[in-house]
Amino acid sequence: MNIILLGPPGAGKGTQARILVDGRGMTQLSTGDMLREAKDSGTEMGKVVADVMARGELVTDEIVIGLIREKLEGGGTGFIFDGFPRTLAQADALGDLLAEVGQTLDHVVAMEVNDDELVTRITARATCGMCGEVYNDITKPIPADGTCTNCGASSFKRRADDNEESLRTRLMEYYKKTSPLIGYYHAKGQLRWVPGLGDIDEVAGGIAAVLDS
Ligand code: AP5
Ligand code: MG
Repeated sequence: MNIILLGPPGAGKGTQARILVDGRGMTQLSTGDMLREAKDSGTEMGKVVADVMARGELVTDEIVIGLIREKLEGGGTGFIFDGFPRTLAQADALGDLLAEVGQTLDHVVAMEVNDDELVTRITARATCGMCGEVYNDITKPIPADGTCTNCGASSFKRRADDNEESLRTRLMEYYKKTSPLIGYYHAKGQLRWVPGLGDIDEVAGGIAAVLDS
């Protein structure tokens, strides 16, 4: 089964993808994580995207489609597309790429969360510097002993784009360029809404109900 987790910044795509990876053995393909890795390891592409990402703008379709193409051509199935596609051109490209490797898209799970909650979540986010486990100062604090519950590491990161100004840009990019995908996948009969406002387990239950339907 291949699925898209569709939602604005802070909707919980990464958090829910990790639950699906652990619970169902699926493979998370987060273009945001791939781009941050490229940036951290100082590749040419990483240097090109660093400022764009820090400002909260979208990087070019060409770059992210290339990243996803490479993963799909590497084989496997059970993909969770997290943060991809984000434009209509990316959505068309994903359809073509899946067809090329003989796979289908089974569900597009749209996660609904209001803007105030998105701002609260994002400004309180931290991630483990080692394994990427996602934390939140309010709802899922880093353990008191300062070690990651998943891998035991003790270094945590805050993202360069998790500030109010970049977040305003990210939200605008979402509404202008990504939200049209809701109509696109609705028209294809693939869109399934899941309330994203409950606690993490409740949201996971909503997604599980869609995948098991
Ligand atoms: P990307 O990394 O994809 O970021 P995003 O879409 O802005 O989404 P986030 O990762 O911020 O949020 P999330 O939905 O994963 O939420 P999370 O689970 O972390 O993209 C970053 C940048 O890369 C883009 O701006 C762009 O520049 C570039 N990029 C990436 N893909 C691209 C593409 N396809 N095309 C072009 N450019 C691209 O949760 C957030 C917080 O909330 C956490 O603290 C978490 O603990 C907490 N939380 C989660 N669920 C709950 C809950 N149910 N209740 C309470 N708290 C919760
Ligand atoms: Mg994410």
